[in-house]
Amino acid sequence: MCGIVGYIGPKPVVPVILEGLRRLEYRGYDSAGIALAGSASGLTVHRASGKLRNLEALVADKPMAGNYGIGHTRWATHGRPTEENAHPHRDCTGSLVVVHNGIVENYLALKKELVAVGHIFVTETDTEIIAHLIEQEFLDAKSVEQLSLEEAVRRSVRKLKGAFAIGVLSADDPSKLVAARSGPPAVIGFGKDEYFLASDIPGILHHTRDIVYLQDGDIAVLTTSGVVFTDFDGNTISRLPQHIQWDPIQAEKEGYRHFMLKEIHEQPRAIRDTMLGRVSLTTGKVELPDLKLTVDELRRAQRVAIASCGTSWHAGLAAKFMIERLARLPVEVDYASEFRYRDPILGATDMGLLISQSGETADTIAAQLEMISKSTPTLAICNVVGAAITRKAFGTITTNAGPEIGVASTKAFTAQLTALFILALYLAQCRDTITQEESLKLVTELDKLPAKAREVLRSTAPVCQELAKIFSNARDFLFLGRGIHYPIALEGALKLKEISYIHAEGYPAGEMKHGPNALIDENLPVVCIATRDENNPDSVLKYEKTLSNLQEVTARNGRVIAIACEGDTEISRLVEHTIYIPSAPELLLPILEVIPLQLLAYSIAVERGCDVDQPRNLAKSVTVE
Ligand code: M6R
Repeated sequence: MCGIVGYIGPKPVVPVILEGLRRLEYRGYDSAGIALAGSASGLTVHRASGKLRNLEALVADKPMAGNYGIGHTRWATHGRPTEENAHPHRDCTGSLVVVHNGIVENYLALKKELVAVGHIFVTETDTEIIAHLIEQEFLDAKSVEQLSLEEAVRRSVRKLKGAFAIGVLSADDPSKLVAARSGPPAVIGFGKDEYFLASDIPGILHHTRDIVYLQDGDIAVLTTSGVVFTDFDGNTISRLPQHIQWDPIQAEKEGYRHFMLKEIHEQPRAIRDTMLGRVSLTTGKVELPDLKLTVDELRRAQRVAIASCGTSWHAGLAAKFMIERLARLPVEVDYASEFRYRDPILGATDMGLLISQSGETADTIAAQLEMISKSTPTLAICNVVGAAITRKAFGTITTNAGPEIGVASTKAFTAQLTALFILALYLAQCRDTITQEESLKLVTELDKLPAKAREVLRSTAPVCQELAKIFSNARDFLFLGRGIHYPIALEGALKLKEISYIHAEGYPAGEMKHGPNALIDENLPVVCIATRDENNPDSVLKYEKTLSNLQEVTARNGRVIAIACEGDTEISRLVEHTIYIPSAPELLLPILEVIPLQLLAYSIAVERGCDVDQPRNLAKSVTVE
């Protein structure tokens, strides 16, 4: 949810931290702060509400002294997004500061205890408790022992309940940064005689690619001579840096106006990279070694239970069609945020599937723990190597979309659909529900998708810009689809509402007559997915039924924008606007259909002057329930 950057080394510390925070602003952006230590004037803290630029202006106005420090961008959970509530938070003396990502669930009880022994709190946050807890450890130890900062942190974090990744520094134990993790992500970067702390890799990738992902229960102590890792009990542990392949340039906008637009255009590559090494174009065979379940285990599986959130939930809904159709295995799809509240009936012969771009979504992790508690092996589809759900999962398929910065998920979604299609095909092959010939045909079609996606981008972007000019003032939108195209309608509606703030709903096309038809008038744009796979009679039948539904809309003067397959002249006679995409086998069409919906949402948001990459009230990773 929040962004953390810490630095200790020879470089001027302020630019390192501010630049890192700028690259992490997608994690939270309602206030920001920085604390420096190591100068004669002791510890200095600057904080500002609002976007990072406010903090940058403050730092320019009141330069800070110090040679190591920590910074933070916040997305409020406890307390309003004010300057006082911005991190870093201080103890009573002001000589110790803490930055935090997550939520301390028992903060009220701890606060009561600390207030009782004289601590004075000045913010509404849960984080401030951590600074006072550490201070109290020093006070308790004073007459008995000389406590190091890391030992005080260790003793404190053992008292915390909830989720936290923290960075701590103290003027009384100088030249040292202490980090701890239990829940939200945190990484340590290794440079030449310099060390970094960050809540995500883009914050430090322009300095180093040698990274340690802190595990839950890890404490890292960063000094100018290196990093020491221990667990919460003080036992030394070994954590070796991994070399990250991501190019720093990948995390930049590369000339696009917004990250979202750049990421929409990265989809052909994301689809390709997600396929690479997993499918054979000569035999049609799928290889998924990281799944770790044996063919026998997959054969025995009785059912797949999918849990995910937002866009990833839409990918799960589409996966139901893919897995049921190809592998003839029943699939249930839940909102991860609801999953554990229905006491799901699961067992060891079921297979849990978690889908998450970040792999850190608290609701999805909670659903995964529910599955694990019922002895159900879990698999993860995730875009971040080493993320929380992958560490808890039995096996993983990584979606190789690369870092996604825009809050609205785009390339991660098409990469998820690609990975899920490959998984469905693999299950079908393991369960003998598909012939080799059919497999090879589908793999050949899958291989054509990156080129088709490129074509969709080229041909539909200008059309979407024109449509945005016509429809950007609409108050509501409806998105319709049938079968596997219905989740894509939901995704189109989600994209539009989250970045343009226009109310939008996704509906199964056949449900219109059961109520929503009442909404239709000449002011309501209706986006309808009316594609067809000519080689698939079921698909053609669905298409024809969808056409009938569209007739009901046009008869009531609804303004239809149809997504149709190239060569379909019938539909363009019926509706006001048609966006054409290339045809493909039905289970692959969603990957192409969603692209114009992303572009339409993007163009409308730009037309309305919205903050596309950082829409209001949202954050990229939702690491609290
Ligand atoms: O990282 P995850 O895929 O688990 O995130 C799930 C949702 O929070 C995410 O898809 C959200 O709905 C996006 N903002 C949609 O664009």
